[in-house]
Amino acid sequence: MQQEDGFEHSRTKERNLAMELVRVTEAATLSAGRWMGKGNKEMVDQAAVDAMRPALDGVDMDGIVVIGEGEKDEAPMLYIGERVGNGNPPEVDVAVDPVDGTRLLALGLPGAMAVVATAERGTMYSAPPGVYYMEKIAVGPSMKHVIDINAPIAVNLDRIARVREAHIDDLTVVTLDRPRHQELIKQVRAVGARIRLITDGDVAAAIQAAMEDYSGIDVMIGIGGAPEAVLAAAAIKCIGGEIQCKVWPRNEQEREKLKGDGIDLDQVFRTDDLVKGNDVSFAATGITSGELIDGVQYFGWGARTSSIMMRSRSGTVRYIQARHKWRKGGNIGVPRIG
Ligand code: FBP
Repeated sequence: MQQEDGFEHSRTKERNLAMELVRVTEAATLSAGRWMGKGNKEMVDQAAVDAMRPALDGVDMDGIVVIGEGEKDEAPMLYIGERVGNGNPPEVDVAVDPVDGTRLLALGLPGAMAVVATAERGTMYSAPPGVYYMEKIAVGPSMKHVIDINAPIAVNLDRIARVREAHIDDLTVVTLDRPRHQELIKQVRAVGARIRLITDGDVAAAIQAAMEDYSGIDVMIGIGGAPEAVLAAAAIKCIGGEIQCKVWPRNEQEREKLKGDGIDLDQVFRTDDLVKGNDVSFAATGITSGELIDGVQYFGWGARTSSIMMRSRSGTVRYIQARHKWRKGGNIGVPRIG
């Protein structure tokens, strides 16, 4: 049925796709969580992808992967352009990160999670080949109109402090702990704001920034993966807030190549450029415990997972704790997703 906003809904108007996506991220988590701390990044990813792929096919949707494991040649599953879902409406773009924080999980460090997002077909930004990184700034709803990725950090922090009616020294900035952020960290320290350095996982960090009063994080700044920017934008579209990004070449050679390919390095991508759709669903399940969500726990009877899910239509953010029992009479290693 055609709705007022022009988007074609299937069967039930009130269907919440995010509810179904949670089962997908839970499946990836239950499988990948077994590899925690075993030092094997490849197996961490493999386990998550192997579980996520069939779980996606159980979802009532006609999906095309726009953010995935890479090109078809290098990724046997969840490659960009792959059809996922059972083929029923709605037609959607699908963004997946079976493990955001593969290194975290391989080393048993906090903050790894499985992530999936959907939006109406053709509305998610698909980074052109060669675009690996983006410069990012993400904030919550009250600050969405004051940030400017092109302004100096000191200016952004001053504006944020004013909106928050806070001392700049009390703001908390989260950024990835990377050598490329040395200058950024110096500038944040120069104005006196607090810094939380994370080793990986800037999707969760951007979500925390968008959740403002609930997270203790005021802003996420720094350079991270381009696919993660789109996933973060999907979540921010649901929560409110803003992410602004610019393509970031790693070196001069990459800069020239991107320019030669016609990529405008000055273009600012805002939330609505990264995810244009208005019917966005997002789900993430914690693999190792982080500040946003707890990690998976295994027991004799099964496992427990914690997830966050949201959708843009209502702006509802749900936290879901699930108990998964091992399959009855079956292989003890396979949890049942109910
Ligand atoms: P992966 O799990 O795909 O390795 O990504 C983890 C991550 O920390 C992202 O959250 C972040 O955007 C990106 O890596 C940063 O890239 P790099 O580690 O190369 O600085």
